[in-house]
Amino acid sequence: LEEKRAFLLNKRAEAEQGGGEARIAKQHDQGKYTARERIERLVDPGTFIEFDKFVTHRCVNFGMEKKKFLGDGVVTGIAEINGQKIAVYSQDFTCWGGALGEAHAKKICKIMDFALDNRIPVIGIQDSGGARIQEGVDALGGYAEIFYRNVKASGVIPQISLIMGPSAGGAVYSPAVTDFIFMVDQSSYMFVTGPDVIKTVTHEEVTKEDLGGATAHSEKSGVCQFKCKDEDETFERVRELMSYLPASNFRAQEDKYTSDPVYRDNTKLKEVVPGNPKKPYDMKEVILDIVDDGHFLEVHKDYARNIVVGFASIGGIKIGIVANQPEVLAGVLDIDSSCKAARFIRFCDSFDIPIVSLVDVPGFLPGTVQEYGGIIKHGSKLLYAYAEATVPLITLITRKSYGGAYDVMASKHIRADVNLAYPTGEIAVMGAEGAVNIVFRNELKGLEGEEYEKKKAELVANYENNFANPYVAAERGYIDSVILPEETRKRLYEYLKVLKDKKVDRPKRKHGNIQL
Ligand code: COA
Repeated sequence: LEEKRAFLLNKRAEAEQGGGEARIAKQHDQGKYTARERIERLVDPGTFIEFDKFVTHRCVNFGMEKKKFLGDGVVTGIAEINGQKIAVYSQDFTCWGGALGEAHAKKICKIMDFALDNRIPVIGIQDSGGARIQEGVDALGGYAEIFYRNVKASGVIPQISLIMGPSAGGAVYSPAVTDFIFMVDQSSYMFVTGPDVIKTVTHEEVTKEDLGGATAHSEKSGVCQFKCKDEDETFERVRELMSYLPASNFRAQEDKYTSDPVYRDNTKLKEVVPGNPKKPYDMKEVILDIVDDGHFLEVHKDYARNIVVGFASIGGIKIGIVANQPEVLAGVLDIDSSCKAARFIRFCDSFDIPIVSLVDVPGFLPGTVQEYGGIIKHGSKLLYAYAEATVPLITLITRKSYGGAYDVMASKHIRADVNLAYPTGEIAVMGAEGAVNIVFRNELKGLEGEEYEKKKAELVANYENNFANPYVAAERGYIDSVILPEETRKRLYEYLKVLKDKKVDRPKRKHGNIQL
């Protein structure tokens, strides 16, 4: 018996050695943890239970039959984060550079199936040289099996990807389908084709970091939602994100603990939103004052900064926030901000997270770049996402809400449940200057100098009196209530409470045809 026990313990120890001491040391020298160390740091202590520790490949090409690592270069299993069960896999760069072969892929698929069957989130830690070259089509097939599962699980269980090394070629498409991508600054990269191929094909010279590093993907492409300074910060942020997510789509959310009094006044907000519609301010100040403990987990922080999205709670009720940001490009909607917000809204809707929208928007960004880039189709994603959402939707217009952007930003007309405005709210087809130039073109024609200025000022003042307020919309019932800024938090809480069991019936369909 002792012998058999020792045999098992030895085998476990061998599996835990991965690619061996030298390769582990190399990993550490690069400031990277090993696959197992990463899991240990990510999950609640002592909760990890491993699957398939002794799996090996069956490849016989290029002498591979003599080269086997127990576990086949990926560590998989279940664990807990903040007491919530999760499934996890972590690619081991010390075994063939974490390259994915048939057995490796099967392990990932098994843990993904387990996660989906049991409705728990799945977290993938990627650190891999891509498809294992020696295994050819078996490796490629393995990727496709993973992609298929990513798509099947989308909107059913949260899927999170941590990129902690290379992710190139086919490897990028699994994370791409998942809900959130975390990247580590300077030690991770993602691209479909690397710098060498690019040089041959397009003659562009670019480094790996510039092409597919955390900065490129968090600022330019928007592929990555969270850029972290190192691996430890990444684990901390993932745990924070998990605290806002349910285990699956039909699992009721537990309230978040808070000691922040829900009925406190937002006294600070009396001063934050300026009366002058042209003056910028930081919408994040509004968010931080409204939410519990000033705690806001911003998603996609460095991308399309003219819109702000992220998670928070009010009176413990977990919410998603979508907010125009008047401090960046006056909060205008453009291609990138529309796509960013639409994807976030669809995530919240999939997982039953109520959405609070804070609106201060001058309209859609004009110009050929936007029109040729397809602002029509991309802008429609935002409107589609709001209109199809069945979660509670609360909209607060803090100041400007002009034109088509008024409709799109969760207006009453596309079925927001509660629409509020501050007294500084202005709901109109456009700003006063632009409107006067169009409507009173004839009156202004022929006037010059002081006479022109005087007439125009008079017309602008008249327009502002009539339209630059929330009361016309309130008279029609498009705004349910005009509130004072200091009343925001308690009002939002009351509405969130009453909307908790919202039910919406929609016609049966296979799926809609969102403009992609
Ligand atoms: N298939 C099989 N083995 C691979 C591999 C792959 N796709 N990628 C890396 N490896 C192996 C290497 O042979 C090496 O093995 P060894 O430890 O026995 O010497 C080990 O993984 C580490 O790779 P190495 O190149 O030494 O690490 P690095 O940090 O210098 O470079 C990469 C990492 C990913 C940039 C580099 O390995 C690479 O370019 N790999 C190929 C990527 C690719 O084209 N993949 C297929 C497209 S999906």
